[in-house]
Amino acid sequence: MQEDIKIQKEYINKVQKINEGKNLKYIVYTMGCQLNENDSEKISGMLEQMGYSKTEKIEEANIIAFNTCCVRENAEDKLFGKLGEVKKYKESKGTIIAIGGCMMQEKHIVEKLKKSYPYFDVVFGPHTLHKLPEDIYKAIINKQRIEDILDIDGEVIEGLPIKREDKYKASVAIMNGCNNFCTYCIVPYVRGRERSRKAEDIIAEIKCLANKGYKEITLLGQNVNSYMRSERENGKETGEINSFAKLLKEINKIEGIERIRFISPHPKDFTDDVIQAIKESEKICKIIHLPLQSGSSNILKAMNRKYTKEQYLELVSKIKENIPNVVFSTDIIVGFPGETEQDFVDTLDVVKKVNFEQIFMFIYSRRVGTPADKMENQIPEEIKHERFNRLKELADSQVEQNNKKYINTEQKILVEGKSKTNENMLTGRTDTNKVVNFEGTSDLIGKIINVKIIKDHIWYLEGIAK
Ligand code: 5AD
Ligand code: SF4
Repeated sequence: MQEDIKIQKEYINKVQKINEGKNLKYIVYTMGCQLNENDSEKISGMLEQMGYSKTEKIEEANIIAFNTCCVRENAEDKLFGKLGEVKKYKESKGTIIAIGGCMMQEKHIVEKLKKSYPYFDVVFGPHTLHKLPEDIYKAIINKQRIEDILDIDGEVIEGLPIKREDKYKASVAIMNGCNNFCTYCIVPYVRGRERSRKAEDIIAEIKCLANKGYKEITLLGQNVNSYMRSERENGKETGEINSFAKLLKEINKIEGIERIRFISPHPKDFTDDVIQAIKESEKICKIIHLPLQSGSSNILKAMNRKYTKEQYLELVSKIKENIPNVVFSTDIIVGFPGETEQDFVDTLDVVKKVNFEQIFMFIYSRRVGTPADKMENQIPEEIKHERFNRLKELADSQVEQNNKKYINTEQKILVEGKSKTNENMLTGRTDTNKVVNFEGTSDLIGKIINVKIIKDHIWYLEGIAK
């Protein structure tokens, strides 16, 4: 597989020669999770090496790439809407249209594309992302439609070019795929089984980022705390750093990196060594994203989450006891098949008890091919929406309360840049991921500085630099 990268570099050069002197532009549309955003940075990296430069204007683009998501249905609607919109550019100036990402692993979607949107040039999946240069070259030269989807679990490919969106914070994938098969979730079917990157490759990438001035790293994976587990269980060569806890401690030693985050861990795999590693590692942010999904033990069982309400709450208590001032964020799905009013009240109960700093809320979305899609007791849309609104109300009131706790405290802020709405204001984030706006000069950008919080708003806090 690693050989493939060499071949792709040759295709990059070939396309670059064809494009030379033409001032061609690209645009990438990303739907979905941070892993997809990270993949999009790789798509951008490859396109730039092929001689395309970035544009924000769709009408200027000579190549439009879509990086799709299939976790919920609304992503599909978004893609089809956008594809309708780009047809005119294909017709008027021959814009290349490349569609990639998880949704392309679903056969019925590719069929629909061929039938209703046959003007695309390339379809590729997460397992063939690295072959984009070859696919684009063939689409240009042969003027034929390319479908490049692999059903098997692709190997982890190292060494792809990457064009990072931010200058001070970066995401680094540490593993890919999922073995859990939560009954609502399509991810294991499209991203395949868990496979981890070698620790030496991860550490080398982070050291390189540190040398370039990056301060904050977010480690990515569908299930970060089972890092290297499949490899350990299958007797594969893992190297010495063969668990998530060991990896965290190693990354904590990297000079120049000042903040480490990770998403997402699974509560069932949140072992004591991980808690200990977070406690000992001063750079790990003390906000933990711990997906709850539901607060009802019955629903959790039907979701195949492998923990109960009580076990989740015990885990939260254990983490709180061990790590002073830790806070949590979470993912919650409302309206899973069979969810009763009492089940939903259990979810609200957990939300009240944990007091999450941030909740990502989702209305259950039926996904073809998952066990939950075949369950008979689907919840009517209006009940799903009514529960969503009740949960949102509770979550908003907690955010409001929690924001007040920051007033008159001094927070360490990684200054990310100027505020988009006010030239004189800078913006950054606390360790707990809250946005803070404050007055300051641009020499502070990229630094971690102390800011006193003076006022709270729903979406951000206001402060004064110390
Ligand atoms: N419907 C709604 N939300 C879902 N998620 C995953 N699958 C579905 C689905 N079918 C949510 C989960 C997961 C997050 C990334 O997306 O909460 O943690
Ligand atoms: Fe989907 Fe569950 Fe795997 Fe997360 S752990 S990716 S929700 S199957």
